[in-house]
Amino acid sequence: MIILKSQDEIKRMSESCQIVAEVLEGIKKLVAPDITTKELDQYAEACILNKGAKPAFKGYRRYPASLCTSINEQVVHGIPSAVRLKKGDIISLDLGVYYKSFYGDAALTLPVGEITSEAKKLLSVTEESLYAGIRNAFIGNRLFDISSAIQKGVEAEGFSVVRSFVGHGIGRELHEDPQLPNFGKSGEGPMLREGMTLAIEPMVNAGMWDVVILSDGWTAVTKDKSLSAHFEHTVAITSDGPIILTKL
Ligand code: CO
Repeated sequence: MIILKSQDEIKRMSESCQIVAEVLEGIKKLVAPDITTKELDQYAEACILNKGAKPAFKGYRRYPASLCTSINEQVVHGIPSAVRLKKGDIISLDLGVYYKSFYGDAALTLPVGEITSEAKKLLSVTEESLYAGIRNAFIGNRLFDISSAIQKGVEAEGFSVVRSFVGHGIGRELHEDPQLPNFGKSGEGPMLREGMTLAIEPMVNAGMWDVVILSDGWTAVTKDKSLSAHFEHTVAITSDGPIILTKL
């Protein structure tokens, strides 16, 4: 069942989403060669607690950290550790926050110093696919119009869309209905209605779409070891069109 939110609920949700945006903005400034992903996680957690909010991921299905840090061929759910970033890496940062009964969720992939032109293209195509999806998140469209817009943009550039992880509804729960695949047929799926709040999150591989989970039980990596990128926003569908709640 898809839970529609009132204007007031969306306003409240935007507060948790703004915390996500602010914390990610702070982490962005720290991303550079030699910092460890554990340090990024500690910064994120301190920042969240400071704002009177709670990290949404920590403890979720026993996930051990506040932030997901996925480097290079890691797709999502990389666990922060003593590993140091190095020049040429790409790092995906995924952050969820719980504040005043609502969740916010966003992710982005950043370059560490100078990266290859292939990596740059992967980042821009993935981010652009997120915005193509968001542009389709309007009343009267259908859910898979979002999916299809994402998939088309990605595949036109020769990259592939991950199948085994999807976007989701979000609100008083981190994961609500509907599931939102990053591939699908336009014109299909549930009608988009005023008050739907969705975490739209394309995960894009430079090579094939297959992923495997490492023995830590969390880290998803590309099966062919190709690079992977991830961009996510929490979006509200309103009579004024899509509103990106996790945009600063
Ligand atoms: Co999400």
